[in-house]
Amino acid sequence: MTLRVAILISGGGSNMVKLVESMTGDHPARPVLVASNDPDAKGLERAASMGIAVASVDHRRFGGDRHAFETELQAVLDAAKPDIICCAGFMRILTAEFTGKWQGKMLNIHPSLLPKYKGLNTHARAIEAGDDEAGCSVHELTAELDGGPILGQSRVPILPDDTPETLAARVLVEEHRLYPRVLRNFAEEMVQKQ
Ligand code: GRF
Repeated sequence: MTLRVAILISGGGSNMVKLVESMTGDHPARPVLVASNDPDAKGLERAASMGIAVASVDHRRFGGDRHAFETELQAVLDAAKPDIICCAGFMRILTAEFTGKWQGKMLNIHPSLLPKYKGLNTHARAIEAGDDEAGCSVHELTAELDGGPILGQSRVPILPDDTPETLAARVLVEEHRLYPRVLRNFAEEMVQKQ
């Protein structure tokens, strides 16, 4: 039984592309939807060009009404019937009500070595702190921002002349390797539990 994967993005979707490209052959999952909170997200064009169904729910249409936004996003996801949801550069904070519905089925990639540097500007904070390494983490998404069980991490050195931009570029290479690997393991474990 092939698992159905929906991917949530907000921007370019480079992680989404790697996830889609990884779900081939004997991989137990296939992408069924790429959705964004931004109808202009470049990743939607990239997903459509890869033959993946796309959708958007423009969060700006709901003002500050997070519940109304999530209700529409939930309906879009329910229609796709995903077994797994991967947040990949998805920049909206989701409420406990939403994440609770997908408990144990929702993953996220975060550009830091969690639990360090939850939230934004992770690379600038690591450089500022004088850390000698940085990296990325794939974790189960829960109501706690960037706080769910960690499923995998990848480390890179911080170099003396690094800027947040040069460090982000080095970490992104590792994100593109880590997320597909963690998703495959996660999907295989889900199939075994069935
Ligand atoms: C990545 O650094 C990811 O860790 C963060 O958003 C950035 C952009 O991701 N969540 P993508 O290129 O849109 O996948």
